[in-house]
Amino acid sequence: MNEKQRLESEQITTTHSSDVKSEVDENLDRLKNMSSDELISKYFQTTYEVPDLKKARSRRKKDVDIHYDFDIAEEFRGLGQGKKFLIRTYGCQMNAHDTEVMAGILMQMGYAPTEVTEEADIILLNTCAIRENAENKVFGEIGHLKPLKLEKPDLILGVCGCMSQEESVVNRILKKHPHIDLIFGTHNIHRLPNLVSEAQFSKEMVVEVWSKEGDIIENLPKARKGKIKAWVNIMYGCDKFCTYCIVPYTRGKERSRLPEDIIQEVRHLAAQGYKEITLLGQNVNAYGKDLDIDYRLGDLMDELRKIDIPRIRFTTSHPRDFDDHLIEVLAKGGNLVDHIHLPVQSGSSDILRVMARRYTREDYLELVRKIRAAIPNVTLTTDIIVGFPNETEEQFQETLSLVEEVGFEAAYTYIYSPREGTPSARWEDNVSMEEKKERLQRLNKLVNEKSAESMKNYVGKTVKVLVEGESKKDPDVLSGYTEKSKLVNFRAPKSVIGQIVEVKIVNAKTWTLDGELVEAAVEVN
Ligand code: SAH
Ligand code: SF4
Ligand code: F3S
Repeated sequence: MNEKQRLESEQITTTHSSDVKSEVDENLDRLKNMSSDELISKYFQTTYEVPDLKKARSRRKKDVDIHYDFDIAEEFRGLGQGKKFLIRTYGCQMNAHDTEVMAGILMQMGYAPTEVTEEADIILLNTCAIRENAENKVFGEIGHLKPLKLEKPDLILGVCGCMSQEESVVNRILKKHPHIDLIFGTHNIHRLPNLVSEAQFSKEMVVEVWSKEGDIIENLPKARKGKIKAWVNIMYGCDKFCTYCIVPYTRGKERSRLPEDIIQEVRHLAAQGYKEITLLGQNVNAYGKDLDIDYRLGDLMDELRKIDIPRIRFTTSHPRDFDDHLIEVLAKGGNLVDHIHLPVQSGSSDILRVMARRYTREDYLELVRKIRAAIPNVTLTTDIIVGFPNETEEQFQETLSLVEEVGFEAAYTYIYSPREGTPSARWEDNVSMEEKKERLQRLNKLVNEKSAESMKNYVGKTVKVLVEGESKKDPDVLSGYTEKSKLVNFRAPKSVIGQIVEVKIVNAKTWTLDGELVEAAVEVN
């Protein structure tokens, strides 16, 4: 019997009761009478720890195990035959890329992708914990999915991603949302085949959240979204411990992939015809710090730029780890784009100190000066938090003046959101929400002005656009991004999708540009 026949002949049975409603109610009653400790000892199959700053800080640099032997056991292949999966992704590019990995694994198990919720046999919510509103969205979705689960008892509902690394979230799901079948953490993605299989055959919620964080799993399958742009993880985790941020707890310690593994992946993507690579890491320019060899992001970029791929970006860099060698390499240009996303968070040295960012306003401005000296045409964008605990009006003004001084062309702006388990969440805060919202509005007004100004400069100029597809608003219009990440809309035949073309800009809006096709297929480099 060949593999296909074997898969077709396999009968998948599940032990889910057909009367899932009474099962859910029963579960709920049992859960209500259990203490938190009982719940945890009952449901946690592996070690699970609350985000603990002291413990997290004592993480050791070494002890990173790299596994090259990922394989999906024979018993799990075919488990999804004739079935469909859907993954809802929240959060950053890292999460979006994890979704590609999970999709790759599920497809190797025989599942087919679907975008239609009602059609799915397995739905995973790949969650983000960065701010409260990100979490609220997920809890809203968990609630929305309940009727579907009642209708389709065999549906597997899973919660993964950063929220599942938080104890409070897991407890809340255990207590209030027993219709969820599976919870797994960011360190457990490679365990998906076992977990899905367990969830399919178990009556109880399957929870596997490892706080173990020292591993790198290579050779995971990836079902990449699209054939034009690709993400490549170069490192995982974050050791910066900014006082407001949950990421070091949800993603574990900094650990770099080996240069040869990254270079091989990028070469492979180039050979497949991808046009743009974004190197990913939570603190991407800490790359190499944990390796035994003296090799940093600058060295990696210097090797990658020789690969025949038109555009290479990286995100997100931390000002503190932006070294001179990296600047020197970026200045070589070529396929290394002249756009750097460099989160500043605040323009006040006092706020930066309590955020534990480990640089001052002056340090940041000095770094910007060095970058501009080496790459005169560089575009800088940033992230900013307003309303950090006890931020004064004067300190906020310093943020506004920094935005002016640097001339950021775009910024992601956020109201500070206290995250349980982080140091700043325990601090008193004398700034009202009303004040924070008002500051955000003022900041956004300035950021919009800066963006609009930078966009106006493009009118009459010709730019290279990597065409990604039809524009969201009008299928007759195509859209794509410039090297500096400006979104350009223009009319052209669909045959240019996936190519880099020259477009003359005729109109500028605050965040987008309108243009006319000058020439199809630009020679790159
Ligand atoms: N690793 C990246 C991105 C982290 S998350 C970096 O260090 O820059 C993306 C952005 O979310 C951060 O840059 C920060 O501006 C914002 N952010 C993180 N934690 C936050 C919190 N608790 N409240 C509000 N914004 C936050
Ligand atoms: Fe969070 Fe970024 Fe700071 Fe790391 S460097 S703790 S990811 S804000
Ligand atoms: Fe969110 Fe986790 Fe990314 S908290 S921003 S999905 S690393």
